[in-house]
Amino acid sequence: MAKTIAPYGDYIHQPNCTNLDHLPGDYGLPLIGHTVGYLKDPLVWAQKRYKQYGPLQRIATTGLRGVLALGPDLAQQVMLDMDRNFSSKMGFHDRVQKFFEGSLIMEDFEHHRHQRRIVQTAFKNDALQHYTKEINRIYDRALDEWDADVGQTIPFFMYIKELLLIVAAEIFAGETEYKGERVRYLNQAFLDATAGLMYILPWNIPGFTYHTGMKGKRNLQNFFRPMIDQKRKGDGMDMLSFFSREKDENGEYFTAEEVTNQAIFLMFAAHDTTTAAITHTIYYLARNPQVKEKLYREVDSLDLDGLLWEDQDKLPYMQMVFNEVQRIRPSVPSVPRRTIRECEMAGYKVPANTMVFTLPRFTHWMEEYWTNPHIFDPERFSPQRAEHKKHPFQFHPFGGGAHKCIGMHFSQMEYKNFLFKFIKRFDFESRHAKQDVWMQTFPLPKPSDDMPIVITRR
Ligand code: HEM
Repeated sequence: MAKTIAPYGDYIHQPNCTNLDHLPGDYGLPLIGHTVGYLKDPLVWAQKRYKQYGPLQRIATTGLRGVLALGPDLAQQVMLDMDRNFSSKMGFHDRVQKFFEGSLIMEDFEHHRHQRRIVQTAFKNDALQHYTKEINRIYDRALDEWDADVGQTIPFFMYIKELLLIVAAEIFAGETEYKGERVRYLNQAFLDATAGLMYILPWNIPGFTYHTGMKGKRNLQNFFRPMIDQKRKGDGMDMLSFFSREKDENGEYFTAEEVTNQAIFLMFAAHDTTTAAITHTIYYLARNPQVKEKLYREVDSLDLDGLLWEDQDKLPYMQMVFNEVQRIRPSVPSVPRRTIRECEMAGYKVPANTMVFTLPRFTHWMEEYWTNPHIFDPERFSPQRAEHKKHPFQFHPFGGGAHKCIGMHFSQMEYKNFLFKFIKRFDFESRHAKQDVWMQTFPLPKPSDDMPIVITRR
């Protein structure tokens, strides 16, 4: 912790700045501020506020006062953070801290860079090649089971969520027994911990969400920590093995606590994000038959059973579909930070210790940068149109700067390999081809009814 404080002042013990009256904007209703509009549809809410107050404005939401920073210029300033003004630790502080203390997203500056080394080691080329093969095997096994559901309605979101948890147990922790007892234990602990994040009252009493979350966190720690010694001695190719064997600049292993913290957060960062990306893809394919047909044709044109790591660039249209899904419904709705000192943003002086909320989806829908942004149109990412190239931060689903997503390539491999195998085997129909559904953003972005589809064998 001392390393975090060193050259930056003691920003981690300061309360949030709440006097932002000199900035444009308003704090909304007493007590609840703008929480209702923000949670209901952050895009509609932000678009209205942008028209009224411009890119930087004071707000109050979910019990916090801060500034809303809209558009690519401010996203770039906050995420690249060239002047080291913004703390990720304090942006996520309190709620996330309770569950993911010591994880990458909860660290800043030099200490963050030091810890990132632990995780980085699991994303080298040979490791990614290995994961790709293993993931294909798991997908084959799971899709064989899905065969039994042909002709029936399945809640697609629940199915893909379960499947990606099985993938996580094997790839992250080396648990190879498909749906085995340890896999189920790990997955339940993870579900409890993430459910806990949504607590309303931080009461560690049975029956309260917070208590469930804390139990999940403990179970995750009890799962990962005892394996670390063994993993150090072995030559395992799972991510926990890579983390455990990594050494710091002095040639010392990172502590078991550090490794455990990173492993727990990795599951969190990886899982719901990729689940949302695949679920939204199924939704937009159902609603856009011409896109679906083109994607099916592209997959059919490749005479392969599955994609190896080297094959990832062989599906350019699928890449455009992925990008368009992330543009229109990014898996990470908000990237928060807190200022560590007074700084200038959009011509205003923003005080030290001010919460800063960026909203990638707002930027992804700005008419200044995108043609008909409300329309699902993958080809806007084609080399001919390249609409995404007007500003380096007009499209930033994976963030940017020091905290940029470490799993960016891994997640796209997981996504493409799933869709490739799913499309080779199944066609599907959904009532959402014609019928609207409420697309929720919190606690995670997805169609609110879990995206029911009927699958048929091709
Ligand atoms: C579609 C899938 C994904 C999306 C859209 C996504 C998006 C993001 C974003 C926006 C951030 C930056 C957050 C911030 O700056 O506050 C981030 C960070 C992170 N992501 Fe991802 N992510 C995805 C999948 C994954 C996967 C599969 C993994 C791991 C296998 C992963 C691991 C991480 C980690 C460890 C961080 C923290 C990095 C740091 O703080 O240094 N993500 N992700």
